[in-house]
Amino acid sequence: MTEPLDTTAIRKAELHCHIEGAASPSLVKAQARKYDADVSGFISGDTYVWSDFTEFLTAYDGAASLFRTEEDYALLARTYLEEIAAENAIYAEIFVSPDHAVAAGLSNAAYFGGLAEGIAQAKASSGIECRMIIVGIRHLGAEKVEAAARLAAARPHPLITGFGMAGEERFGQVADFARAFDIARDAGLGITIHAGELAGPESVRAALDHVRPSRLGHGVRAIEDTALVQRIADEGVVLEVCPGSNLALNVFPDISSHPFDRLRRAGVKVTLSSDDPPHFASSVGREYQMAADAWGYDAPELTEITRTAIEAAFVDAQTRANLLGQLD
Ligand code: HPA
Ligand code: ZN
Repeated sequence: MTEPLDTTAIRKAELHCHIEGAASPSLVKAQARKYDADVSGFISGDTYVWSDFTEFLTAYDGAASLFRTEEDYALLARTYLEEIAAENAIYAEIFVSPDHAVAAGLSNAAYFGGLAEGIAQAKASSGIECRMIIVGIRHLGAEKVEAAARLAAARPHPLITGFGMAGEERFGQVADFARAFDIARDAGLGITIHAGELAGPESVRAALDHVRPSRLGHGVRAIEDTALVQRIADEGVVLEVCPGSNLALNVFPDISSHPFDRLRRAGVKVTLSSDDPPHFASSVGREYQMAADAWGYDAPELTEITRTAIEAAFVDAQTRANLLGQLD
């Protein structure tokens, strides 16, 4: 029996994290004191309280509503990035949601400017590199998602390099959102979409047909359809896999039933991310550790997962080369 590998020193990259979902309960409680708000509906002690995806979204929205200024967002981004840099993450992409910012009373300029400030502070203190992916919120409907795509296509900040869609996967048909993705793709943005976590393989197939993403958020329920797994492998579509999120949302009962390793063995390009870390008792470091413990990956195999992420990152060639150089 070999010793379990300590994955702390492995260089990591996270492609799938919702910035508002990265706010820890203690940070959100501090924000609640600042704004004299009540968070008892979704935080108890030092944990978020929810019991299904709908309640999770309510907790997420409640936390997001307490980030109301440029400084609040700078603090959130810096805190999250410095935490994962301490786990040896060298790169992260964060999903940013203009709809949440507007609801909290921020201008887009304040939202992106605050996040960029936090990103710059974390880069200065730790070296971590970060980019932003604007997401539309599916359950707000196609018009809102198209508005988010138009905003992204206008390139409101140089660190915004991608477009995606989050929210309730089971809302509407993916074809209804195809125009939003056409707008973003035509603007040269990287494309990713949530599919195949709460909805089944048909949602993955529809996403591939109508959106043609280079990456899928989750995609793990493709495992229910062998031909679809083969298609994902053949097309080289990269999966942003978030095992901790999938377990917390009961998509799979335990890590040994999780399809990450089966997808990898089938030739699918898989990466590891935390999604909404404190909601799912996760962090990118914990995801790597869980994968090493469950499937016995060694350091080169884990580094290969990071390499896959950086090869799929929405960054310029020079940044990608710099990041890949850090894996040698
Ligand atoms: N899934 C879908 N939408 C989301 C999530 C998530 O985990 N977090 C924030 N929006
Ligand atoms: Zn997500």
